[in-house]
Amino acid sequence: MATKKCLLLGVTGGVAAYKAAEAARLLTQQAIDVKTVMTQSACRFVGPITFQSLTGNPVYTDLWETNAAQNMAHIHLSRMADLILIAPASADFIAKLANGLADDLLTTLCLARDCPLIIAPAMNKQMWQNPATQRNLSILRQDGVIVVGPASGMQACGETGMGRMLEAAELVEAVYTALYAEKPLRGKRVLITAGPTFEAIDAVRGITNKSSGKMGYAIAQAAVEAGATVTLISGTTCLTPPAVDEFVSVISADEMLQAVQTAVPQTDIFIGVAAVADYRAAKISPQKIKKTDKNLSIELIPNPDILSAVSGLPDPPFCVGFAAETENLERNAEAKRRKKNLPLLIANLAQDAIGADESELILFDDAGKHILPKAAKIAQACRIIKHIGTLYFQTKK
Ligand code: C5P
Repeated sequence: MATKKCLLLGVTGGVAAYKAAEAARLLTQQAIDVKTVMTQSACRFVGPITFQSLTGNPVYTDLWETNAAQNMAHIHLSRMADLILIAPASADFIAKLANGLADDLLTTLCLARDCPLIIAPAMNKQMWQNPATQRNLSILRQDGVIVVGPASGMQACGETGMGRMLEAAELVEAVYTALYAEKPLRGKRVLITAGPTFEAIDAVRGITNKSSGKMGYAIAQAAVEAGATVTLISGTTCLTPPAVDEFVSVISADEMLQAVQTAVPQTDIFIGVAAVADYRAAKISPQKIKKTDKNLSIELIPNPDILSAVSGLPDPPFCVGFAAETENLERNAEAKRRKKNLPLLIANLAQDAIGADESELILFDDAGKHILPKAAKIAQACRIIKHIGTLYFQTKK
């Protein structure tokens, strides 16, 4: 008989702790050995006895637990675990984790772990949006921590917005994916471009495109989670890159093209998410152009189309494009897909998508169109990577 998988469920202080109890019940029912560790604040929301009764295992709350093997609960518990799930993960706990603090049992065993870690954030929408929280989450993603949720909706405080913890069934799904899911892109090399390019006009000025890089970085994160070896080539953004295998920072379209050309021979799948500037200045002035009261004309010349350059290679990788359109979305997207000779193009309305955390997408491929209703970019990225995996393996048959 296969040995049971062991999940270490960390519960931190938040109203959503009751959903963690339901998740513990569902996971135990599905033959996963759930061991619970609660912080002091978590115990104020739900009693340890609840988790003990639902999982049939003792609950740990104390770093100085005398019954644990050699009195080293933090090492012992983390060695037994195949996976750690922190649900709910409070803003405070996320901050501690991002900074490597280890001042209680749960933070200490997270630091001592040698297994994957999933966190399910839960907090008030303002706490979620706070740059400090977002900065901490970026660090954790970069460290390879899987962040699931939060969802948007009615919150315990009465406000509505991002910050609701995922439901118990969704947590169970995340645990199953981490423990059992096939890594569909294991062994595949994925190259992604993201963010804007910046085309200098003079020493201090330039032209660029509006792009936060959020979608490209989310796709890179999803590809990593799908087991791919990922190279991310990015224009300037304010984001912390996810834990990719190689990160190349570029500024202009020409630099991006060169970086892509270097990486493309070792690429199975190329995903062009970058908002590449279509034109650049014919001449870049090395000095700042002085202001006068006359009109100024700048000659612009077309930039290379990076995606077309790759899809036009004699033996191209599987190429995926993105299109942000302001009007006639479907017609323009399908025309672009054909022109650039792409098996898959993903389109969205520019005015809805740029800089936002959520997006509604339409996927165009040879089978027609598939609508991905509005959801967080990371959730959309996981769906996109799954779809790319399916199409990629179909073309290889
Ligand atoms: O700008 P456009 O709408 O044509 O972008 C469609 C796709 O082509 C995107 O995936 C984008 O990353 C890619 N592209 C590119 N090089 C360009 C312009 C666009 O790779 N110069």
